[in-house]
Amino acid sequence: MQDLAGKVAVITGAASGFGRELALQTAALGMKLALADRDEAGLAATVALLPAGTEAITQKVDVAKPDDIEALAEATYARFGAAHLLFNNAGVAVAGPIWTTTLDDWKWVLDVNLMGVVHGIRSFVPRMLAQGQPAHVVNTASAAGLLSPPGSSVYCVSKHGVVTLSECLHHELQLDKAAIGVSVLCPAFVPTGIGHSERNRPSDLADANPLGEAYAEAVRKAIAAGKLTAADVARITLEGVRAGRFYILPHQAIKAAVEIRFRDILDDRLPTNTLRASPR
Ligand SMILES: NC(=O)c1ccc[n+]([C@@H]2O[C@H](COP(=O)([O-])OP(=O)(O)OC[C@H]3O[C@@H](n4cnc5c(N)ncnc54)[C@H](O)[C@@H]3O)[C@@H](O)[C@H]2O)c1
Repeated sequence: MQDLAGKVAVITGAASGFGRELALQTAALGMKLALADRDEAGLAATVALLPAGTEAITQKVDVAKPDDIEALAEATYARFGAAHLLFNNAGVAVAGPIWTTTLDDWKWVLDVNLMGVVHGIRSFVPRMLAQGQPAHVVNTASAAGLLSPPGSSVYCVSKHGVVTLSECLHHELQLDKAAIGVSVLCPAFVPTGIGHSERNRPSDLADANPLGEAYAEAVRKAIAAGKLTAADVARITLEGVRAGRFYILPHQAIKAAVEIRFRDILDDRLPTNTLRASPR
């Protein structure tokens, strides 16, 4: 998609981090916005930063709930009649060894990071196919969707799921000759609110990994040291969409680690630990 002015962007996780920066930058390009998050105060803060005159709706959405995303799609089409750019971006993270990971950790993170994207695709892609105008879906995965760093198993499983889901979506839309592009965003560490995801944890899924905090602290340090900003990631993402790129890797340096992983597979080697954000 080249010319975004006047088109409609839908952004989940728009109350903070990448989602907020995507909102600001798509608005600056003249797009109309449907902004969703479970954090209503954060959404209002994003709206307050938008350029004057931006047409925007906001909706409280828990992406883990299919009915919430369906309601977002209904509201978007009722207001704007189309959706051209969908960012399935909301996400959360937990840390800690797999064997002490709780079932609540698994349910929370997979429901938000993976099923949230599934719900976005199920509610929006059929409408995009019917609207008769080109569209593009950007799913936020992570470098953790291409690599397997220790101490992040739940997060990695969710993000590897988003990468393969996005690849499958691309193939299926191509086979259908649909005018819908797909990109998968795979950043490494960037200072945002992701290291403080516990603020988004539902009280009925509160049983957290007892060894998670030591790992989470190491991850927070790596995030704080991230060289790119959320604004950089949003800019690179929009450049990628306009260039029709599928894999969007804002940190090009992770390609060396991805190559090592694939060499491990092709050469029958033990997996190399390429990302050492762990306390040991
Ligand atoms: N920051 C990084 O280092 C990094 C790296 C790779 C990938 N990511 C991914 O980027 C995406 C955006 O995260 P961020 O870094 O901007 O973090 P962030 O915490 O600043 O923003 C995440 C947003 O998602 C929202 N959210 C969380 N759970 C939700 C739910 N159930 N329903 C609706 N909204 C929900 C939060 O309220 C928040 O506004 C996530 O998918 C994250 O996994 C982040």
